[in-house]
Amino acid sequence: MAETSAQHQIKPSKSVVMIGLMGAGKSRIGRELAALLGVPFVDADTEIVEAAGCSIPYIFEHYGEQAFRDVELRVINRLLDGPPHIIATGGGAFLNENVRTRILNHATSIWLRAELDILVERTGRRGGRPLLEKGDPREILDELMKERYPVYAMADIIVDSLDVTIADTVNDTAKALAEFLEGQQDSQ
Ligand code: S3P
Repeated sequence: MAETSAQHQIKPSKSVVMIGLMGAGKSRIGRELAALLGVPFVDADTEIVEAAGCSIPYIFEHYGEQAFRDVELRVINRLLDGPPHIIATGGGAFLNENVRTRILNHATSIWLRAELDILVERTGRRGGRPLLEKGDPREILDELMKERYPVYAMADIIVDSLDVTIADTVNDTAKALAEFLEGQQDSQ
């Protein structure tokens, strides 16, 4: 992977939060980005499962989506209060106004934007996503794109998650982050 010198110099002073729909690659790209930058990585959904002591499908089935969203808000607030990390969030997190406001004010947000075919293909590889089990995953994802993409568009940075190698998307993401952080320094 060709890395620019700017990428080596990235030292995020705030957490970097990966947002986007299920299947966009938030955890995978976030983890690799963290390794590249030498910053710790944390997956908010994994933290939710640990905090709740049960799986996400179990929370949805036994306590309902709202209970999941409540835990999600608490976990993300806790992560944002900690030292800088690369944080992968679940696809619905940024839709919650409280979560969104905190992310926009206390972190750098990256929307991994992907097309429907890619999301359908990638989500088909792993289950455990209760929202996609309510009907046809393609139709559900299509609806969620209409609902959520205008909100995700508020992110600081947008990176297209294309049908290319992980290394290429990580590289694009690191480059976009470096440019964004440099632009912020210049405007100070
Ligand atoms: C959800 C996305 C999931 C998980 C939960 C709800 C959503 O995470 O948080 O099933 O509302 O889009 P991923 O985006 O990591 O699959």
